[in-house]
Amino acid sequence: MSESSSQSQRKSFLGQLPLPSLRTANPGVDEPSDVAIVGVSEGASLSPTAALIDQQIGGAIARLLKAGKLSADEGETMLLAGPAEGGPKLVLVIGLGQLISDSQANRELAFRLTSQAIRGLVGKSHETFFVALAESFDASTHDMVVAGALYALEGQSIYRTKAVINVPQTIVFSAVDQDAVKRGETLGQSVNLARRLINEPASAIYPESFADIISELSVENGIDCQVWDETKLAEENCRSILAVGGGSERPPRLVIMRYNGGKQGDAPIALVGKGVTFDSGGLSLKPSDGMVDMKCDMGGAATVVATMNAIAKLGVKRNVVAVCGLAENMVSGSSYKLGDVIKTRSGKTIEILNTDAEGRVVLADALNVAISFEPSAMVDLATLTGACMVALGNEVAGLMANDQTVADQITAAAEAEGELVWPLPMHSLYDEKVKSKVADIKNVGEGRWGGAITAAKFLENFVESTPWVHLDIAGPAFSDSPKPHRDAGATGVYVKTLVRWIESL
Ligand code: BES
Ligand code: MN
Ligand code: ZN
Repeated sequence: MSESSSQSQRKSFLGQLPLPSLRTANPGVDEPSDVAIVGVSEGASLSPTAALIDQQIGGAIARLLKAGKLSADEGETMLLAGPAEGGPKLVLVIGLGQLISDSQANRELAFRLTSQAIRGLVGKSHETFFVALAESFDASTHDMVVAGALYALEGQSIYRTKAVINVPQTIVFSAVDQDAVKRGETLGQSVNLARRLINEPASAIYPESFADIISELSVENGIDCQVWDETKLAEENCRSILAVGGGSERPPRLVIMRYNGGKQGDAPIALVGKGVTFDSGGLSLKPSDGMVDMKCDMGGAATVVATMNAIAKLGVKRNVVAVCGLAENMVSGSSYKLGDVIKTRSGKTIEILNTDAEGRVVLADALNVAISFEPSAMVDLATLTGACMVALGNEVAGLMANDQTVADQITAAAEAEGELVWPLPMHSLYDEKVKSKVADIKNVGEGRWGGAITAAKFLENFVESTPWVHLDIAGPAFSDSPKPHRDAGATGVYVKTLVRWIESL
């Protein structure tokens, strides 16, 4: 491939994501479409559109519900034929369960069930979906109906020659106002951006190409973006990023994005992402089973970039700086080695005892760059440890912090969006576990015990007094198996949480 065509392939990444045109409609008004999607919830009467369609199809919905042949159980679906004339060709009825009176708790439900409904339909080609689900939900969840609809349209089969997902031309949302459509579109597209970046293989997304994509996205969004190449990284004493990237043909990068939506002079919030575009383990080589999904090891950086895209498009009135450390952890004659001692940008020295504990090494410099902006609070996201998955499973991020206020804020934001985080302890007794005999710290703990925590303790050495939260997203960022509402592969999780957190400050 020539240089110019590989360049043009990198272009307009956001523009490559599926985006049907989105419209709004009033509830209970006849809307011709290929498929209308209506919800039924336990103990509630049919929504205006559901009632209208029910009337058009001779009362089938009410009859089936009454006969116990159609269930309002959460996530149950039934496809019915539409009326002979007018209205939709097909009607998808989806059970919404018992809607909780706490409307915040329904944001995740609105997102997930809308995505599930649409995902079940896109195996076939349809021009127009008419989504009437918002009628059953509180207005504070309507952006999630829109975001959920878009979420269904992105998946892992991006290199199948025959489309697996048939993207509709138009999605019409009843009862959703224009602002919620816009917000939902931005959030849904941003989450899908993170997913696409993660799902792309490491041959497409490597430090340079990832940095190019971030630059272009920044230009589009009016975000100031600086890319540090290997020369600049050396000038800036980012020796730990250079060490991890040293074994690869693809040189490392550090990307700084600055979004200034707040008052001039207000301290920024800092977001930091682990961007290991491929983690072979380096000389501490991973077995194939452990390496197979390691294109996902830039998931932290992808989440941070997607969040920056969202807050810029939403015009959030805060100053935010994002720092992504991008490196490929590979095996070659120039790989960093066990026993190496690296003097990090902060001046602290690290003894390398396992080259597969590379994420924390990359983050050592990235965190140091981030605190140079004197942020009022900092959150880093990293697919950091298998140990965190052993502790919490595949769907919950480990939350470790040096500051309870920021930890509580992140927990509250995650809860409101239905994204799962759980605290792990940071007692000072763990500090001992990362002390080195030859350097200030070592990059592994004592054996495997408490591996997620010792990794966080290592990071804590590089945040100084900045109020800081670390999210270990190794489990939830990427999934082997599909769910009714999403494909396997990248999940895009925590973009919504970060946006909500930043908006809440
Ligand atoms: N990127 C991995 C962690 C990971 C594992 C992410 C599975 C997603 C899914 C990380 O760089 C790593 O290899 N960590 C080691 C650390 C160990 C050598 C101390 C691990 O968890 O085994
Ligand atoms: Mn590793
Ligand atoms: Zn890694």
